[in-house]
Amino acid sequence: MREWIVAGNWKMHNTVAESTALAKAIKEGAVDIKDGSVILAPPFTSLHGVSEILKGSDLLLAAQNMHYEDKGAFTGEVSAPMLKDIGCSYVIIGHSERRKYFQEQNADVNLKIKKALSSELTPIMCVGETDEEREKGITQEIVGRQVDHGLKGVSRIENIVIAYEPVWAIGTGKVATPAQAQDVHAFIRKILNESYGKAANGIRILYGGSVTKDNIGDLIAMGDIDGALVGGASLKADGFLGIIREISGKK
Ligand code: PGA
Repeated sequence: MREWIVAGNWKMHNTVAESTALAKAIKEGAVDIKDGSVILAPPFTSLHGVSEILKGSDLLLAAQNMHYEDKGAFTGEVSAPMLKDIGCSYVIIGHSERRKYFQEQNADVNLKIKKALSSELTPIMCVGETDEEREKGITQEIVGRQVDHGLKGVSRIENIVIAYEPVWAIGTGKVATPAQAQDVHAFIRKILNESYGKAANGIRILYGGSVTKDNIGDLIAMGDIDGALVGGASLKADGFLGIIREISGKK
């Protein structure tokens, strides 16, 4: 049995005051939900404030990115020990916006995954094909390479979460159909199984891309979809709590 995860990726939104107010509303609304994990990923500047709000609750804190070195002359970057220090237990790695706008490659993703694991942060590794790649029929090739290269040299996968986020579905309102998502999730689990055996059955694979409380019900009913990575709909407590309620009790 895999426990569900719902993670809210706030991206570059919210001041400290806005972030703490949103975190407080989500914390209060989710107080009776115990059967899965709710994770909030505010921007770096709000991590401390949100961490304080989440203290004493079951909600968990994630960063949206990190560097693969512990410290050094890397202006503008943030390291794993810094994230641990501020209360993060998760970190999103290789989001498609990082790949697209900041030229992150699978090799960078791999270094970050290894650093997160050795720092006892659980990475949420994002993979997904573009519209063009899907049209060319190379979705499996692209996603397979992202998974293989991202996890190169990683011997244990127990503490990794994967998010399948088709690039064409992110922020577009064009959600993948449950069958499209399930196909790719099952494919990811299959290749994990080839490398890691039975451990693959315990890995949570989240779907991301235009998730709302109205479409998550059908997605979460699929066998290999274990939760959601939510962008736009995580910015309002009502919408985000609605997604959590749709998933809670169904996995
Ligand atoms: P979206 O973003 O829910 O706004 O499509 C998802 C994501 O980028 O993680």
